[in-house]
Amino acid sequence: MSRLFTPLALRGITARNRIFMSPMCQYSCAADGLATTWHLVHYGGRAAGGAGLVMVEATAVSPEGRISPQDCGIWNDEQTRAFAPITYFIRQQGAVAALQLAHAGRKAATAHPCRGGGPLAAGEGGWQPVAPSPLPFAADYPVPSQLTEAELERIEADFAAAARRARTAGFEVVEVHMAHGYLLHQFLSPLSNRRTDDYGGSPDNRLRFPLRVARAVREAWPAELPVFVRISATDWVEGGWDLPQSLELCRRLRECGIDLVDCSTGGLVPDAVIPAAPGFQVPFAAAVRQQVGIATGAVGLITDAEQAEQIIADGQADAVLLGRELLRSPSWPLQAAKRLGSETAWPEQYLRAR
Ligand SMILES: Cc1cc2nc3c(=O)[nH]c(=O)nc-3n(C[C@H](O)[C@H](O)[C@H](O)COP(=O)(O)O)c2cc1C
Repeated sequence: MSRLFTPLALRGITARNRIFMSPMCQYSCAADGLATTWHLVHYGGRAAGGAGLVMVEATAVSPEGRISPQDCGIWNDEQTRAFAPITYFIRQQGAVAALQLAHAGRKAATAHPCRGGGPLAAGEGGWQPVAPSPLPFAADYPVPSQLTEAELERIEADFAAAARRARTAGFEVVEVHMAHGYLLHQFLSPLSNRRTDDYGGSPDNRLRFPLRVARAVREAWPAELPVFVRISATDWVEGGWDLPQSLELCRRLRECGIDLVDCSTGGLVPDAVIPAAPGFQVPFAAAVRQQVGIATGAVGLITDAEQAEQIIADGQADAVLLGRELLRSPSWPLQAAKRLGSETAWPEQYLRAR
């Protein structure tokens, strides 16, 4: 009996298996953060391919929170309506529809990575990024402006409003993006947060704003539906954010009513040395699950059915998130079921290929 294909119940929803599609920016909005037919086909294809949960990419809670001008947004009703056919199709295929809520902070206003990436000047469609402290991400990035208390309140409210819109759009899970060097991670790490007020300095102070956002999203989201948080469990830099601090954050997130921590790493600084190898981030998901007692997702170079099965069977995580492997093979879950000798429902349109 495959453990990977055992359903996972969280609050009022049940994912049919533990294979989740990891959030991946598509940089494919034609205008103003509006999801397009690309997003429908892309996410719909992975739902038809058997994923238990499909997490739609980092979606900005405000215009200035976008990584690039082509990012998805969920700060207005038109954007909310654009997501509705996508969530409908994902759910119709038997997958859970999830949305990652994000603010890029000092990593905002960059060019599409396939068009060179890097910061965009104002004349090229860029804007002024904001951050906990006026420290740029890299030497060629602009100095972000330091957020004021009033601006923090606004961002907290933007996350809560985005969660409410996500529900209107038909999503069943929201994930707060606290990883990869984006705004909330910038508050957590002492390398990017040099504030001297209530939001910087001591570990408690650095956790304060990310926890406020987690609580605000939890309160805005229906009690019967789960909220996930994605963290970077380490900056991979001496003196930076690390696993012991992550464990404390996760204890507090559990107290806030967060249901699952999706454990990634890195992204805060450009020069970290990351020991990427198959399953290299799984031990972080295992540590959080075992030491904090909260459900976790493992992500990063999980590409093989037996490897994914082992992660779940060993109790290292409650779900695996697959990123690039699902770009290569949208029907990976259907094929993994066959490999592991497990039954899973195929779309009837594809039955002749089973
Ligand atoms: C094209 C692309 C876009 C990504 N966008 C996001 C994103 O929107 N949010 C996020 O948390 N991670 C993002 N990631 C990271 C992935 O979710 C995942 O954590 C990473 O690719 C490692 O998993 P993998 O080895 O299965 O690809 C992105 C990765 C790729 C390749």
